[in-house]
Amino acid sequence: MTAIGGSIGIVGAGQMGAGIAQVAAQAGYKVILSDVDVERATKGKDGIAKLLSRAVEKGKLEQAAADATLANITPVGDAAAVADCALVIEAATEREDIKRKIFETIGQHLGADAILATNTSSISITRLAQASPDPKRFIGMHFFNPVPVMPLLEVIRGLGTSDATLAHVREFAENIGKTVIVAKDSPGFIVNRILVPMLNEACFVLSEGIANVVDIDNGLKLGCNHPMGPLTLADFVGLDTCLEICKVYLDATGDPKYRPAPLLVKYVEAGWYGRKTGRGFYDYSGPEPVPTI
Ligand code: CAA
Repeated sequence: MTAIGGSIGIVGAGQMGAGIAQVAAQAGYKVILSDVDVERATKGKDGIAKLLSRAVEKGKLEQAAADATLANITPVGDAAAVADCALVIEAATEREDIKRKIFETIGQHLGADAILATNTSSISITRLAQASPDPKRFIGMHFFNPVPVMPLLEVIRGLGTSDATLAHVREFAENIGKTVIVAKDSPGFIVNRILVPMLNEACFVLSEGIANVVDIDNGLKLGCNHPMGPLTLADFVGLDTCLEICKVYLDATGDPKYRPAPLLVKYVEAGWYGRKTGRGFYDYSGPEPVPTI
């Protein structure tokens, strides 16, 4: 297996995929950014352009560096277009059927040395690897939101992941400036195993009337120095994503400590997913977020 050079493929140009594309392109990699159609992939690239131009305006980035980053990103509307890449990172919707289909499509064309990675935050890497052409070259690369800001990369080995695949991914992570932590394949890996039950617990504290939204958030912000309170963070991550992750833990372990808070379920049923839908524990329609209850 050769070291990762050349192009990186990203499948999914949403919040996470675009963030990964940005950091890889900034580090000098050529990036093929794919989504279900070229319009969505281009929207992902446009979002990166906006973030870069803001950084240029603030004097934190040279215009030439922003231009070079954007020139490294090619949006495409077909997952098969990433099949020539040395490393393909899937960052599509957190649904196993969708991810499996992507791996099967790409897998038909993928080079014999290429590594296929998933940014899943909760699905078993060992199971997903079965939909890839070679479980030895399949691995979890869990990035954190916002990807350009968060320094961590959680790497997850499936049961079949080879040492060589792990070593190549470590090298790539170093090249894009991320610090690696390595987890075994277990529901929630390291960070979400600890984080998501805390977010879920904050929903219980709210629904039991123990405190209001602002006091719960201030509790963890000012008492534990968290940059965001748990309800703000749940809105940021997406309440639908938080709920999906709780369900994965509950299904995988059968342990009732992971049962989702009924209030979280209700919000998701109402379509209140947090920031991305404009409403969650806060309303984002005005200049500042305002608690909804
Ligand atoms: N994309 C790129 N850059 C961003 C950004 C984004 N979406 N949001 C903020 N930034 C940058 C800003 O441009 C700014 O950069 P400079 O310092 O160079 O100017 C910097 O981040 C700080 O931003 P702000 O001053 O606007 O705001 P802040 O100081 O409140 O920081 C934050 C914002 C970085 C998001 C901070 O609140 C934070 O760290 N929050 C916690 C985030 C967190 O916990 N993420 C993990 C979520 S869990 C997850 O992702 C895993 C999962 O599977 C669920």
